[in-house]
Amino acid sequence: MRKKLSKISSDYKILVLDDEEGIINSIKVILNRSGYHCDGYCDPLEAVEKIKENDFDMLILDYIMTPINGDEVVAKIREFNKDLYILLLTGHKDLAPPLETIKALDIQGYCEKGDRFDQLLLLIESGIKSISQMRTIKQFKDGLNKILQAVPKIYQLHPIGIILEEILEGLMPLVNSKNAFILIDDIITSEDKVIFKGVGEYDIPAKSLIEMLSPYLMEQIGKSRETNEVINLDYGIIFPLLNELNKSMGVIYIESNNFNEGRKLIEIYSKQAASSISNAFLHSLINMKKEELDKTYKELKNRYMDTIEALRLTVDAKDIYTRGHSDRVSYYAMKLGQSFNLPDEQIELLKIGGIFHDIGKIGTADDILFKTDKLDYSEYEQIKQHPLKGAYILSAISMFKEVVPIVKYHHERIDGKGYPDGLKGDEIPFLARILTVADAFDAMTSDRKYRSKLNLEEAINQFKTYSGTQFDPKVVDKLILILQDYETISTELASTYNI
Ligand SMILES: [Fe+2]
Repeated sequence: MRKKLSKISSDYKILVLDDEEGIINSIKVILNRSGYHCDGYCDPLEAVEKIKENDFDMLILDYIMTPINGDEVVAKIREFNKDLYILLLTGHKDLAPPLETIKALDIQGYCEKGDRFDQLLLLIESGIKSISQMRTIKQFKDGLNKILQAVPKIYQLHPIGIILEEILEGLMPLVNSKNAFILIDDIITSEDKVIFKGVGEYDIPAKSLIEMLSPYLMEQIGKSRETNEVINLDYGIIFPLLNELNKSMGVIYIESNNFNEGRKLIEIYSKQAASSISNAFLHSLINMKKEELDKTYKELKNRYMDTIEALRLTVDAKDIYTRGHSDRVSYYAMKLGQSFNLPDEQIELLKIGGIFHDIGKIGTADDILFKTDKLDYSEYEQIKQHPLKGAYILSAISMFKEVVPIVKYHHERIDGKGYPDGLKGDEIPFLARILTVADAFDAMTSDRKYRSKLNLEEAINQFKTYSGTQFDPKVVDKLILILQDYETISTELASTYNI
C-alpha cells in the first residue's frame, strides 16, 4: 500500500519557496517522507525562472520575502502559467494577504506556518487530488480534440486500406502503446488488398498476422465479436467494431497494460471508426459486381479456413488416440445430413462443423486432455469449456457464423443434461444434434487411452439405449440405417481421408 502511495506521489513535482532555508528543509523532509518529488529555493526570482523552465505541479511559498513578496511572485507566475496549484504559507494570520488578492491570483489555499506541518500536509494531499483530477480532465479534453481532428479524415471515402491507416493514425496518440491492429471482415476487396492494418509489431502482411496471433488472442477476439463487448487482457485490450445494425464488423486490438482514461476515449473513437468503415463498405458494395463479391468472399473464407485447419491439426496431433477423429466426424455428419436430404449448404456446414468441432481444445492444458485417470471436478469443468472456446475462435471472422452453433452445441443432450447451456430437444440446433451422433459414433468405435473400441453391434446398442435421452431418435434411426452398409462407408472414408 505504502509503495503504491509513493508511486502516485512521485508523479507530482512540488517547488517550495521560502527565504528561510530551515523552513524549506523541514518541508522537504516531510514531503520526501510522503514520497513527493520536491525542490526548494530561497530566492523568489530564481524560483519564478525554475517554474518557467520545468513542469512543476504545485508551488508552496512564503508570503513575506525579499526582494518581492509572495503575492507578487504569484502575479508573475500567473502571467505565463495559469494551471500551477499554489499554496501560500503565512507567518501569522494578520500578515496574510487580503482574501481578494488570494482569489484574484488564483491561489488555491493558505495556511499558517507552525511547528507541526499536519495542516500543510493535508492541504498538499487534497491539492494533489485536485491536480490528478485536472490531469484526467485535460487528458480527456485533449483526446477528444484529437478525435475531432481525426474523424473528418477517416470519413473521407478512400479505399478501405487507407481508411484503416487513418484510423490507426488517429488512434495511437490516444493510447500508451505502439502496437495495434484493426481486423475486419473484408467482404469487398480483391485478394491482394488488406483485411487488416497494423502498426508497430503488427505492421506486417495480413497472412502473417493470423500466424502471429495466439489461439488465446483469437479466442478473445471471437468472444469480443460474439458479445460486442470490450475485452481487457493483461497485455492489451480488444474493442469491437459494430455497424449501424449493431453487428460486428471486426475489432481493434491495442497492446498496452496502461490505459487509464484512454479507454473511454478509444470507445468513442472506435464507434466513429466503425461507422467510417461501414460507410466505405457500403459505397464499395454499390460499385461491385456480384461475381467479384462471391470470388472475394470465397478467397477470404479459404484463407481463414487454412489458419483454423492448422490449429485443428495441432489439436489432433496432440493426441494419437484422437488423430483423424474430426475428419471422420465430419464425414459421418455429412452422411447423416445427406440421409435427411438436407440442402448442399447445410451439408457444407456439417462438413466444416465436423472438422472444427473440437478446435476449442487448443486452449485446454495437455495434462488434463491426456489424463488417463478420472478427471476431478475442476478438470472436467475445463474440458467442458471447449465447445464455447471453439465457438469463439470461429466467431473471430463472421463468415463462420453459421458453423458457430454447431460447434457450440455439440455436447448438448436431448434430455437437457448436456453442456454448455443445457438445451433440450428442439432447442438444440438440428445440425448440432447430427454432429453429436457423428461425434459419439466415432468416439465409440475408436480406441481410447482408457478403453478399447466397441464393435459395430455394441455401438449400435449404445445408441439404441441412449436414443431420446442423449441423442435425437430421428438421427439415431438414420445412423442405424446408414450403418447397414458399414463396409462401403469404411472404404470410402479410408480412400477420402487416408485414415
Ligand atoms: Fe467435443
